[in-house]
Formats: sequence, C-alpha cells, structure tokens
Amino acid sequence: MLFDTHAHYNDPAFDGDRESLLASMPEQGVARIVDPGCSLESSRDVVALAQRHDHVFAAVGIHPQDCGDFTPAQLEELRSLARQPKVVAIGEIGLDYYWADNPPREKQKEALRAQMALAQGLDLPVIIHNRDAHADSLEIVKEFPEVRGVFHSFAGSVEMARELLKRGWMLSFNGVITFKNARKAPEVVAAVPLDRLMIETDAPFLAPEPYRGRRNDSGYVHLVAEKIAAIRGITPQEVELATWENANRFFGLT
Ligand code: NI
Repeated sequence: MLFDTHAHYNDPAFDGDRESLLASMPEQGVARIVDPGCSLESSRDVVALAQRHDHVFAAVGIHPQDCGDFTPAQLEELRSLARQPKVVAIGEIGLDYYWADNPPREKQKEALRAQMALAQGLDLPVIIHNRDAHADSLEIVKEFPEVRGVFHSFAGSVEMARELLKRGWMLSFNGVITFKNARKAPEVVAAVPLDRLMIETDAPFLAPEPYRGRRNDSGYVHLVAEKIAAIRGITPQEVELATWENANRFFGLT
C-alpha cells in the first residue's frame, strides 16, 4: 500500500473531480494521503476534506508565501484547528527565499518559529517547505531539538541531509527525482537510510516523468517509489513497504 505524504487536494485544479478522484485512490493502491494546508483558509478546507474521506489526513499551517500578515491571533486559530480529528501534523511551514515578492525573510522566520513552538506544545510533527533557505531552515530546526519533522520535496545536499538525519528528521521525495535534470536529489536518495524516507506527489504540481507538466495526483506516487527503488537497487515493493511504515510511524497512525 502506498502513502502519499504530501498532496494539495484543496487546489482549484481539482474543482472538477476532487471527491471522485480521492474516492478512487484506495483502488489505485494509495491507501493514505496527508493533505497540508498553506493558509488558515486552506487549513480549514483540508480539515473538512479529511472528515469526508477515511483515507485522507490533514496538516494545518501557514506556508512562508502566505505568512505576510502572520499574527498571534492566526496562531491561536491554527491551535484550535490542530485539535480537530485527523490532524496529524503542523504544515506546511518553512522558508522560501526563491521568489523576490515573498514576505520578508524576518517575517518568514518569525512565522516558522511560532509554528515550530506550536508543534512542540501540541506534540505534533512538522512538514517543512524549504526553498533556497537551507542555512536558515537548519538553524531553526536546531533551535527546536524536541520537534520532529520532515523536509518535503527535499532539495538540499547530502551534508544537509546528514544534519537532519542526525536529529531524527525524515526526508520526503516526489516527482522531481524522476526529472532528467535531477542530480542532487538522486544522490541524497541513495544516501538516506531506508527507514527515514517518505514519498509524496505534491499534487497538483510536479507530476513525475513521463507525465511531467500534467496535473499530478496521488495515483502517480508509485512512480516515485519505483524511481527510489531503481536508484537504490531494491524492489519497488521494498520501497512501498518501508515508506508506508515510515509515514504511519511519523504521523502517529496505526
Ligand atoms: Ni506543498
């Protein structure tokens, strides 16, 4: 059974077929999905989505791109959302220095630190988005030694991966590792212990080859498992089993 640990079904790309597509996932072999919110509004949406589908779980958080007006009042609303049934993590949260018009770096760090503290208080894992902010992300991870988390769509170096692994963190990979120009990620995939890997789609984005450029959905997550298997020289079934167990353990699911 496959576990897609990161997909955004609240995205408008799914407005035409969201419920039927999600309902089809167990028969496609995808038995569990975590859908992380990126704002208060989308966090509310994914909590509701998880209520409608047995195999869907939610994470709540404010993405660095959406943290421009982050306030303590928003944190309190996240706290109450995080206590709803089937909320398994705080995310997606993090730092994104790629886009010039993103909120200022200091604001992003403030929102990330506040949400790390929230996760610590609630004893929930975190889902981290990190783009072009490796050093600052790692620095904040080190400030919260009690918080466990995953770097989703991990794009750092083997050295950075080792720093995170040493602290008990997980790394998650998606269709990016199947792209022809992917270099660093396959190197990391080969170096990470199998019990620290998770798989995801990041749907509707980043569809794996040979579907690159199309709308992505959890039905393609097996292609990520197959690519990991090819890189590591093991069977897709071994990757499927390990990532299923890893994700359930990480999110506290039985
Ligand atoms: Ni995402």
